[in-house]
Amino acid sequence: MILKNNEYFIQDFKISDLAIEYGSPLYVYDGNVIEEKVRRLKNAFSEINMKIKYACKANTNISILKLMKNLGVELDVVSPQELQLGLIAGFLPDNITFTSSGVGFDEIEDSVENGVIVNIDNLPTLEKFGKKYGNSQPVLIRIRPNVEGGGNQKISTGHKDSKFGIAIEQVDQILALQQKYDLNIVGIHQHTGSDIKDGSTFVEVANVVFEFAKSFKNLKYIDLGGGFKVPYKKGDHETDMEDLGEKLSAAFKKFCEEYGKDLELWFEPGKYLVSECGILLATANVVKENPGKTLIGLNTGLNHLIRPMMYDAYHKVINVSNTSENLQKYNVVGYICETDDIAKDRSLSAASDGDIFAILNAGAYGFTMASNYNSRLKPAEVLIYKNQKYLIRERQTLQDIINKQILIDFNYET
Ligand code: LLP
Repeated sequence: MILKNNEYFIQDFKISDLAIEYGSPLYVYDGNVIEEKVRRLKNAFSEINMKIKYACKANTNISILKLMKNLGVELDVVSPQELQLGLIAGFLPDNITFTSSGVGFDEIEDSVENGVIVNIDNLPTLEKFGKKYGNSQPVLIRIRPNVEGGGNQKISTGHKDSKFGIAIEQVDQILALQQKYDLNIVGIHQHTGSDIKDGSTFVEVANVVFEFAKSFKNLKYIDLGGGFKVPYKKGDHETDMEDLGEKLSAAFKKFCEEYGKDLELWFEPGKYLVSECGILLATANVVKENPGKTLIGLNTGLNHLIRPMMYDAYHKVINVSNTSENLQKYNVVGYICETDDIAKDRSLSAASDGDIFAILNAGAYGFTMASNYNSRLKPAEVLIYKNQKYLIRERQTLQDIINKQILIDFNYET
């Protein structure tokens, strides 16, 4: 979003015009930002054979998936539904990885039947996989590296109390299954967490994975998951991709030398690719002067963006309708019938009923975590790419909520 002559724009489109044309609440994504993030990540790792497997749980709009595909990005999916969305978007099965976490074996079978490689995160499932497929299908192993990282307990996955992956201490049990079923283990995967602040965590965990990987002889891939930190406000910490690229590439090259083979290094970024590209536009229903606190009540809430309530996430809010520098303190709240804070104690340009607000960093885990709570409708989504605007999802209708319900007539006498 850029400010030009007191108006906010995405590329050549005025934000306020988008809100009028498509109504609010509205998700708007800037495809040029996605393109730039992909370019930066690829450049940072240009010295090695690196592949980007977009963790599409962050945003599964099919047009976003297609854009990723056009940018040469591959896909990480976590459910049969994400897998199908990937295929609909045109990804080849070869370019999709199914990263399971405690899923039913039927979902592993479904992935194999679709020609998609799987990442297995527990020993019982690995045993079932061995029994059914032997060495006829390649497989990756998801390990738990016992490294702490991630912005919040809920999104921290690599530590020793986490439910994710096979603990690295269990390497002998993996090797025993490999021997018993002649498993074709082609990759080692881990994901430490999301919003990892400290760049050195990535290097630390990579070294754990490299050491672990040496026990496996037929590897082709090392998958280090996602978790790059994006900035949520000015001056906020963000992963220094160029620095990380240099350090990790050097460590990876050294590992490949020791291993005796050039492997591919995979990442599964979600937020890094799509968080900053997205805004959620909403309208002020009411500006409410409570004693000591002024509230801006928006026509959105935790039903459309759950991150502030779920993770105490900071999302910058901007009054798009008033760009004056006359700032006042506000709490920004949603319209859901429970505590529904979006932003607290923020200095914003003076707000009036009807003003349009942009909530930033809404491209990742915004729409995909949206719900119909309070039976409210999910917003429309618009993509702006190379100065063209595309409606990529219509706003829901009440009929969408009713559609799958089975209406029963109760004819009981009372
Ligand atoms: N790979 C795996 C196996 C994952 O579980 C995740 C995220 C990613 C990659 C991508 O992580 P990212 O690059 O986006 O940090 N809903 C939460 C984030 C949950 C992330 C779950 N796994 C949030 O809104 O902060």
